[in-house]
Amino acid sequence: MRQNLLLTFALLLTMHCYSLVDKETVVVKNDISGENITIHCYSSDDDLGVHTLAYAANFTWYFHVNIGGSTKFYCDLTTGHGSGNYGVFDKRLENQCDDYCLWLIKATGPCLVQKVIRGELYCQPWKKPPYHIKGFAS
Ligand SMILES: *[C@@H]1O[C@H](CO)[C@@H](O)[C@H](O)[C@H]1NC(C)=O
Ligand SMILES: *[C@@H]1O[C@H](CO)[C@@H](O)[C@H](O)[C@H]1NC(C)=O
Repeated sequence: MRQNLLLTFALLLTMHCYSLVDKETVVVKNDISGENITIHCYSSDDDLGVHTLAYAANFTWYFHVNIGGSTKFYCDLTTGHGSGNYGVFDKRLENQCDDYCLWLIKATGPCLVQKVIRGELYCQPWKKPPYHIKGFAS
């Protein structure tokens, strides 16, 4: 009985430490005023679905990185200014945003708020032209 209790306690402690170390948050926020954008985020294990975000709205999810730290999330971003597929969380990005990765989707492309360097933005250009421009690449 006493041993079971100790075992349970040890297990809870382990789980608690694990969650303290590895809990991650990713926020994808529409920062293009007057426009709705569409996002589809996923990892190799989870498909988070397709979501439309009005200006200033966000889509947020939480997860634990797997043992070995190989967890990666990607998003397909579609806006009236451009679109593309972007990595939004991996080991390298984790070094820039720590445990809270806030992506601002701007007219110029997605920008990561780099928590570890006072919120300085790390911005990437759009990979594809706006979807409404027909006959421009494809
Ligand atoms: C964004 O979506 C909402 C809900 O579907 C719609 O009412 C609104 O007109 C859309 N805004 C723009 C700028 O397309
Ligand atoms: C994301 O949206 C939620 C719900 O509206 C809000 O509470 C939260 O502050 C928003 N986060 C950011 C970074 O805008």
